[in-house]
Amino acid sequence: MNQAPRILLTRRWTEAVERHLAIRYDVTLNEADVPLTADQLRQAMRDYDALCPTVTDCIDASVLDVPGRRVRLIGNFGVGYNHIDVGAARAFGIRVSNTPDVLTDTTAELAVLLLLMATRRAGEGERELRAGRWTGWRPSHLTGTSLAGKVLGLIGFGRIAQATARKAQAAFGMQILYHGRRRADAAIEAQTGAQFIAALDELIANSDVISLHCPGGPETFHLINAARLALMRPTAVLINTARGPVVDEAALVAALAQRRIAAAGLDVYEDEPRVHPGLLQLENAVLLPHLGSATIETRNAMGMRVAANLDAYFSGQPLQDPVA
Ligand code: 8YV
Repeated sequence: MNQAPRILLTRRWTEAVERHLAIRYDVTLNEADVPLTADQLRQAMRDYDALCPTVTDCIDASVLDVPGRRVRLIGNFGVGYNHIDVGAARAFGIRVSNTPDVLTDTTAELAVLLLLMATRRAGEGERELRAGRWTGWRPSHLTGTSLAGKVLGLIGFGRIAQATARKAQAAFGMQILYHGRRRADAAIEAQTGAQFIAALDELIANSDVISLHCPGGPETFHLINAARLALMRPTAVLINTARGPVVDEAALVAALAQRRIAAAGLDVYEDEPRVHPGLLQLENAVLLPHLGSATIETRNAMGMRVAANLDAYFSGQPLQDPVA
């Protein structure tokens, strides 16, 4: 009988998916659930047939290019894969898959959560109440801004941005603008009610809420920098559920501290899990710990999507979600 392929999950997954995989594969779990070091990742490349990493693993060329490499497939747990050097993987003939679709609505819900929290000052209110500083109702207390008729500017217009557009329009009556590498199909524009703005700076200057949905990586590094923050309306809010390095965090801290923009809602950071100390001091920053896809249903579905790609690969079928 052929031996089951050896696979390594670099972090703990949901119990249901770990059980599902253990029936089919020779699975190694990271019991301590602590991120692996680069040396441990390099060793794993020699010991396993497939590596299943997450956003906390840096799979660069120095990890991929090990002598005696055994790994043939990297089944990423997550849709974003900027932590994997996909070009190097391709050059070494290593296949890479990701988990699109299954986390679209969950991540869009989190963008909407941040949008509401930031515009309605929910974090400030909760901190005030828990600290025993709430003195009671008054007309001027923690007034935020309403959303009806306000402009939501989306930067990047993939699946998650489109789902965010639908929710913001249907639930709050927001007007939607988007900027992306190219204009979406007319059918998608009609479904989402979103209008394409070819010039990024124009979208930034004309939005009440800006929500980032572009991939991470060198092309989008510090896309939102001091100059672009200066283009934002002083009443505007920035939401980031994409990747931390898309925003120059130091410049954002300065803009928020000087109230050059009203607020920010962040789920991702430049150097996770470190958070810029300036952000921690700001009442007008809503800060969540990378919870975009964190529901049990979605984490199960993400794991099952990795499993589907492993099954396809090891039975000689085309990958369901190839990225390399
Ligand atoms: C994931 C994400 O939880 O899928 C993504 O790209 O950002 C998150 O929602 C994380 O990446 C897991 O690897």
